Amino acid sequence: MMANEIRRHVFVTGAGGGIGAAVAARFAHTGDSVTLCDLSPERALAVAKSLGDGKGNILHVSGDISRREDMSRMREEAESASGPVDILVNNAGIFPDGLVVNVTDSEWDSIMGVNLKGTFLATQTFVRGMIDRKKGWIVNLASVDGKTPGPGNSVYSASKAAVISFTQSMAREAAPYGVFVNAVAPGWVATPNVTKGERWKEAVKKIPLGRLAEPSEIADVIAFLCSKEARYIVGETINVNGGLFMD
Ligand SMILES: NC(=O)c1ccc[n+]([C@@H]2O[C@H](COP(=O)([O-])OP(=O)(O)OC[C@H]3O[C@@H](n4cnc5c(N)ncnc54)[C@H](O)[C@@H]3O)[C@@H](O)[C@H]2O)c1
Repeated sequence: MMANEIRRHVFVTGAGGGIGAAVAARFAHTGDSVTLCDLSPERALAVAKSLGDGKGNILHVSGDISRREDMSRMREEAESASGPVDILVNNAGIFPDGLVVNVTDSEWDSIMGVNLKGTFLATQTFVRGMIDRKKGWIVNLASVDGKTPGPGNSVYSASKAAVISFTQSMAREAAPYGVFVNAVAPGWVATPNVTKGERWKEAVKKIPLGRLAEPSEIADVIAFLCSKEARYIVGETINVNGGLFMD
């Protein structure tokens, strides 16, 4: 554990792979209690096992963050086992592509349901306790696409732009109570969903650093936002994109 921190309880949505798994590992390795939440119990369990599930500080829960009853149940499971949640990382997200002319109602509903409503529901589920205790951190996963959308992913981009706006409003509501709400906006990250395709090979040519981000590099920035070094950062969405986009 870092010398300047006490053990905290971290709830990570979408922790069954990719960036979420790296975030869970980042906090687990510095001694925090981590609850890994995922739609897939198998994925959550596999990552939890790799982090030493059963040692007392790693728990996994499964459910759909876009359903209020699932969020309430997962909060109860997490908090009855490991105490109040201090840090929420709203990481779960889905990113199907599609031209606007082809997007179906159900695709719209599921992308907005997970990326935006899920972020809202998880935040609402935990922020009340954080406000009561006057202590907490929430980090939302936005995306470079939420700041500079391209063609072919309009719904995803709109969901992430809304996450940025939601982060700012929530940050203003929570900061007076000592609760810090911020976001990160990754560019291209070497997660299985990205590297299984071919598009990243063209995209990487436009990244000044000349490579994809490792999931752990996103996790490091999230951990920073939850540290005392970030104690004057409120409502920010930090680009972590190798120079692909700057604002
Ligand atoms: N990978 C990238 O390049 C990249 C870039 C920018 C932003 N992001 C954002 O980072 C986040 C994580 O991306 P990733 O690439 O690691 O994703 P991923 O697909 O590898 O992992 C996402 C996890 O979320 C889980 N999940 C999906 N829907 C859920 C739901 N309704 N309830 C609970 N869990 C659910 C999935 O089972 C999966 O384990 C997403 O919000 C994504 O939009 C990713």
